Amino acid sequence: MTRVARVTLPLLAGLFGPLGDPLTAGASGDRALGQYLSSECVTCHQISGRFDGIPPIVGLPEDSFVAIMKEYKNKHRENPVMQTIAGRLSVEEIAALAAYFGSLKAAPPAKKKREGKT
Ligand code: HEC
Repeated sequence: MTRVARVTLPLLAGLFGPLGDPLTAGASGDRALGQYLSSECVTCHQISGRFDGIPPIVGLPEDSFVAIMKEYKNKHRENPVMQTIAGRLSVEEIAALAAYFGSLKAAPPAKKKREGKT
């Protein structure tokens, strides 16, 4: 899996890179970088926003997204998978992912969130 990622990610970067228009980039995060990094996330998180046991992350407000990722990074949120993933993302990369996922349209919520507020 790591091997595949190493091969495909630069390819995707090549594809998306030239299309990354600075005008469409989010105010804080680099949306094109976020799109590039998102290929890993969407193996688990449905890009459609559909809930299939893993909470959807499309359409999350950027600041909540960043706050949640920081909580995983600090291990204030429990999930070990997300702790590992967030742990190796830089602040810049998290902001980029927030900008990208925040810009996507979420499907109508299929399920209420378990935890209310962050
Ligand atoms: C191996 C599967 C997997 C991958 C890959 C993955 N996640 Fe997750 N993610 C999960 C699971 C499972 C949860 C729910 C964990 C929990 O209950 O705290 C979660 C939760 C989250 C949440 C919190 C959602 C909410 O509403 O509480 C965010 C944000 C998130 N992930 C972002 C990401 C990002 C960004 C990436 C890519 C860099 C990513 N995830 C990659 C499995 C994954």
